Amino acid sequence: MLINRQLRLKKRPEGLVQREDFDLVESSVPALSDGQALIQVLYLSMDPTNRVWMTDKPQYMPPVAIGETMRGLGLGRVVASRSKKYAEGDLVQGLVGWQNYVIASDEGTPFTRLPAQSGIPLPTLLGACGFSGMTAYYGLTDIAPVQPGETLVVSAAAGSVGSVAGQIGKIRGARVVGIAGGPEKCRYLIDELGFDAAVDYKADDWKNELAKATPDGVHVNFENVGGPVMRAVLQRMVLGGRVALCGLIAGYNSAEKPADDYSIIIVKRLIVRGFLAFDYAEPERAARDLANWVREGRIKAEETVEDGLENAPVVLNRLFDGSHRGKLLLRVGVEEG
Ligand SMILES: NC(=O)c1ccc[n+]([C@@H]2O[C@H](COP(=O)([O-])OP(=O)(O)OC[C@H]3O[C@@H](n4cnc5c(N)ncnc54)[C@H](OP(=O)(O)O)[C@@H]3O)[C@@H](O)[C@H]2O)c1
Repeated sequence: MLINRQLRLKKRPEGLVQREDFDLVESSVPALSDGQALIQVLYLSMDPTNRVWMTDKPQYMPPVAIGETMRGLGLGRVVASRSKKYAEGDLVQGLVGWQNYVIASDEGTPFTRLPAQSGIPLPTLLGACGFSGMTAYYGLTDIAPVQPGETLVVSAAAGSVGSVAGQIGKIRGARVVGIAGGPEKCRYLIDELGFDAAVDYKADDWKNELAKATPDGVHVNFENVGGPVMRAVLQRMVLGGRVALCGLIAGYNSAEKPADDYSIIIVKRLIVRGFLAFDYAEPERAARDLANWVREGRIKAEETVEDGLENAPVVLNRLFDGSHRGKLLLRVGVEEG
């Protein structure tokens, strides 16, 4: 008999997430009914939005209820099937939750079937070629398309979405400036990912460095952070600049709403568009382009992989202390054979 382990939300975290905010519950995996498939979860995607889902702030999906298995994106393998949609052996991606097994039903929330033998490692399928990469692609293709010769500034640039956004900016012919915490991440952006310049927002003179790195102003801002970082970038924008407002991670651990003054958006007549990758109408196009760019070496994918379902609450905190590069993942299952 297969045993499932689930991390269920016990109480809403205050500040950083604690292991004690969750119960680890074991139960046997029920037998499948017609129209169902059993997915073994292999990797969980550690996303800033997990932190938001744990709160009861107004948000784009219902908050995770107390006692409910934590919502989370991930990748898994279909290990048994009585479904018309999912066959045994399929690799799938979607909202698997913080658990070892999940049952997919033909009528329920769909999982995306991934192409077999794509030649791309599983962690990269969940990172640069998955939801993170698609977020970057959508933002710079449809929300705030960047043109050759324009200056693109990306914040949280050494992270999962930001690192792909900056590299897509280079593919599109833009001058790309990344903002990241610490000299090592800034070196990585320039030397390994091919950014034109990088600004360490933890250095004292970072606003001057931002001005020096953007002599012609900023045409497009791919914004992942908010707070002081976003305010400084908006000041550097040209008239009519475009902002793809992807995320505001600087505020995710705080119970209060950040008191940001966005009057600069009016002064500069900026076009700002918030967006959710979940809404993107052309995920297949994004997946195909991203996979090709990774295979061709035009996008360098990097993942930081940790182990163990029980560690999910603590590993998630690495998104907020700057201690990872690229996509942060948790390996929760190992395939047999
Ligand atoms: N709109 C959508 O559909 C969508 C989809 C996916 C993600 N997102 C958003 O995209 C952003 C990045 O997500 P990700 O998954 O790619 O995470 P990530 O960039 O891999 O990790 C988060 C990074 O943010 C930086 N950071 C954390 N707190 C910060 C602060 N107070 N000030 C400045 N930088 C801070 C850290 O890098 P440093 O070391 O540089 O500080 C950290 O590594 C998030 O805001 C997320 O909510 C939006």
